[in-house]
Amino acid sequence: MNLVFLGPPGAGKGTQAAVVSQALRIPHISTGDMFRKAMREGTPTGLKARAFIEQGKLVPDSVTIEMVRERLSEDDCKNGYLLDGFPRNLLQAEALAEFSQLDAAVNIAVADEKLIARLSGRRFCPKCSGTFHITKLADEKICPNCGAELVQRADDNPATIANRLSVYHAETSPLTAFYAQKGLLKEVDGDLPMEVVTAEIGKALAVEL
Ligand code: AP5
Repeated sequence: MNLVFLGPPGAGKGTQAAVVSQALRIPHISTGDMFRKAMREGTPTGLKARAFIEQGKLVPDSVTIEMVRERLSEDDCKNGYLLDGFPRNLLQAEALAEFSQLDAAVNIAVADEKLIARLSGRRFCPKCSGTFHITKLADEKICPNCGAELVQRADDNPATIANRLSVYHAETSPLTAFYAQKGLLKEVDGDLPMEVVTAEIGKALAVEL
C-alpha cells in the first residue's frame, strides 16, 4: 500500500505513522526526520535545509522532491511505503504523482489551539526515535522506552510553531482538495486518544491495525 499522511504540524502524523507502518510492514518515510538526520550528519542536504527548518519554512522543492524520489526507488519501498510530511505543496504532490501511484492520502485533522500545546510539550528520544508528550511522562527528561535523555526539537518554540502553522494553512492544506478530487482522500479526526485515532485510520483504509 502506498500511503501519504497529511495534517498540520503536531497532528500526530509521526506518532500514527510509526504504528501503521509497523502493522502494515511498510517503511515509514518522514521527510522531517530525513532532514534532521542530514543536519546532524552535516551532509550537503542538511546544510541546505537548516536555515529553512529553523525558521519554520519549507525546504526548497528542488532539494525535497529529489530526496523523496531517490528514497522511494529503494528496494524496501517495492511493497509499499508511508510518507509522512511529503507532499507539502501542490508542486510536490504533482511531482509525486509522476514517479509513484498512491492508494490513499490520510488527512489527520486537529484545530490550531490544540497543536500549539502538543508541540510545545513534545519531547523526542535521539536514541530510539520515540516521540512523547510531557503530560504522559513520569520524568520529562528520561525516555520511558530506552532510558536515554529526551530532547526538545529546535523548531518546537513558539515563534517557529507559529510560522509552521501559517505555512501549513497557506501551502499544505490545499492538498486535501487535490486528493479529494482524485478520490484518494481519507479524513480522520486527530483530536481523539492516540489508540482511537489509530483505529479510525484502520477503518478508513479498511486494514487491520
Ligand atoms: P516535520 O518533521 O514533518 O514536522 P511537522 O509536519 O511540523 O510535523 P511534526 O513532526 O511537528 O508533527 P506530527 O504531526 O508528526 O506530530 P507528532 O506525532 O510528533 O517537518 C519539520 C520541518 O522540516 C518543516 O517545518 C520543514 O522546514 C521541513 N520539511 C519537512 N518535510 C518537508 C517537505 N516535504 N517540504 C519542505 N520542507 C519540509 O505529535 C506531536 C505531539 O502530540 C507529540 O508530543 C505526541 O505525543 C502528541 N500526540 C500525538 N497524537 C496525539 C493524540 N491523539 N492526542 C494527544 N496528543 C497526541
